[in-house]
Amino acid sequence: MLELKKLAWELPAGEKILKHIDLIIPSGKLTVVTGPNGGGKTTLAKMIAGTEFPTSGQILLDGEDITALDMTQRAKKGISYAFQQPVRFKGLTVRDLIELAAGKPLSEDKLCEILGKVGLCTHDYINREVDGSLSGGEMKRIEIATVLARNTKVMVFDEPEAGIDLWSFSGLIDVFQEMKEQMAGTLIIISHQERILKIADDIVVLAKGRVRAQGKREDILPSLFADESAVHCPREKEVLSHE
Ligand SMILES: Nc1ncnc2c1ncn2[C@@H]1O[C@H](COP(=O)(O)OP(=O)(O)OP(=O)(O)O)[C@@H](O)[C@H]1O
Ligand SMILES: [Mg+2]
Repeated sequence: MLELKKLAWELPAGEKILKHIDLIIPSGKLTVVTGPNGGGKTTLAKMIAGTEFPTSGQILLDGEDITALDMTQRAKKGISYAFQQPVRFKGLTVRDLIELAAGKPLSEDKLCEILGKVGLCTHDYINREVDGSLSGGEMKRIEIATVLARNTKVMVFDEPEAGIDLWSFSGLIDVFQEMKEQMAGTLIIISHQERILKIADDIVVLAKGRVRAQGKREDILPSLFADESAVHCPREKEVLSHE
């Protein structure tokens, strides 16, 4: 279980990007975090992964305060994060990257199984360099595969749908559904996609750096769609920015 207590993040100039976020993200469930662009979702994911540190507040993992731990220390505690925009590594192959994530050498069958989940044909890809020659969608799928390979107790996927074609996306939904049914840990997906929202157990709506709504999918989803146009209406923006 992840617990965020009065979490805040400010830019050096003083702009408040996250404003006192109080959240409990349970284990054994899929929590989907959604909300308008710029609402603070990626920032929140970075706080959890430890690539950025909160200005104030706490992050607890199963009751342990991990706020001061860096990304490597948090990875050791079992937190994995798939970036919204994956990082490319010149000189590393797809096999290297997935084996690094898994923490051990993998057979071709195992590599095939993992890459197959994200719709990549292993033999064509395992020896490719993870550099600029891979397309954006391929890179994104490899990034997701590294988190699947790690299979840790907290997994955060930032917009896994971004840049993924419709056909591979269906397969990916099945993978998340399967993970959700099997995992005992915490699965967090940041997404704008209705199909991902529909498989969520819980939904968190983040807007203007605050938790705007939070609860079971069946309670949040109807109001979310009813509200969709309101989020973009200037009056609503005014109300939100008033906080
Ligand atoms: N390092 C930074 N310097 C300046 N502004 C930043 C920085 N990081 C985030 N922001 C700003 O904080 C706000 C929240 O950004 P964030 O990336 O968390 O949004 P998001 O909810 O993930 O949006 P999207 O749906 O577009 O991915 C944005 O206005 C963004 O420009
Ligand atoms: Mg984002």
